[in-house]
Amino acid sequence: MQTKMTELLGIEYPIMLAGMAYVAVPKLVAAVSNAGGLGMLNPVIYTPEGAREAIREVRSLTDKPFAVNITLLLPGARENAVVALEEKVPVINYSLGRADWIINAAHEYGGKVLGTIVMQRHARRSELDGADFLIVTGHEAAAHGGDISSLVLLPLARTWVNIPIIAAGGFSDGKGLAAALALGAEGISMGTRFMLSQESPTHDDFKQLCLQAAAEDTIYSDRVDGLPGRFLKTKMAEIMSRQTMVSPIKALSEAREISRMLKVPMWKLFFSGLKTRSVTGLARQAVGTGSLETAVEHGDVARGILPVGQVTGIINELPTCKEVIDLTVAEAEKVLEEMVAKLRS
Ligand SMILES: Cc1cc2nc3c(=O)[nH]c(=O)nc-3n(C[C@H](O)[C@H](O)[C@H](O)COP(=O)(O)O)c2cc1C
Repeated sequence: MQTKMTELLGIEYPIMLAGMAYVAVPKLVAAVSNAGGLGMLNPVIYTPEGAREAIREVRSLTDKPFAVNITLLLPGARENAVVALEEKVPVINYSLGRADWIINAAHEYGGKVLGTIVMQRHARRSELDGADFLIVTGHEAAAHGGDISSLVLLPLARTWVNIPIIAAGGFSDGKGLAAALALGAEGISMGTRFMLSQESPTHDDFKQLCLQAAAEDTIYSDRVDGLPGRFLKTKMAEIMSRQTMVSPIKALSEAREISRMLKVPMWKLFFSGLKTRSVTGLARQAVGTGSLETAVEHGDVARGILPVGQVTGIINELPTCKEVIDLTVAEAEKVLEEMVAKLRS
């Protein structure tokens, strides 16, 4: 199956792993790349040296192309982007910030850059800055999808820019891939689907919760980590989505933990974050990040919070990444053939 996505990124199938904090770690990244898709590392939990080690670990597990995800709004992101550029990572995906300097530096060594967007202003900015592709994230998505659902957002995005687009938010199988191609995308990015795979490091208790969840069992709120986002409807996510204030003690203790993990002093974390966020937004971000670690690594169902997309309602099993990709491609080809036959009959 060939599209502009496979041609430009040098991969076999037009399917990529979304950049998920705590989840998109070297083992999962390599599993997706080795299966013919594009694996993507999320280095947000690492110091710059940790990010370099993780990139090298991916390279020790696969010789196929892979990407690194950079959420520019978050502490340590710029430093990790510099490491990814120094390591000449084949594909860099950025979001929530100005990335002309990343795009220029990646293009110098032949790297490709994908900008993640949910709205017209950011799409135009990314195209003007020279991004090669856009990842267009619909409302159905886990974490920070925008206000518009994929069915409407994808054709709209095609009118906003001339660069190719990759669909994200609500895709988990071949029917979704066929639909994304029909809506003008060159392929799909999947988060929830790969988070629910054998190679995903997500704690099994949370995987089982997601398998049992219905499409309605997610919450979309800006009170969980300070940005509008979608999360599995756990007890903690429900409490946080209702609370107007964040406990300063909890925020401080989570921020201290992030500061320790990223080896970024507290004052720097606070002042760099304040450039783009309010104090409450920063406090929510600290609590949200801590709760994500609690979910993925410790499987604490009472206290953890996990970004999950509405597709959780149609995912019922835990295949390997290779099975996900092979089944998605085979089903998309079958569906597309059946559509043609249906129109001719
Ligand atoms: C467990 C999990 C963690 C995520 N963490 C991040 C993150 O740290 N940064 C980010 O930009 N997106 C994050 N996302 C969102 C994905 O990048 C992607 O946009 C989303 O999963 C696409 O929707 P889907 O889940 O319907 O495939 C996360 C998603 C999941 C499921």
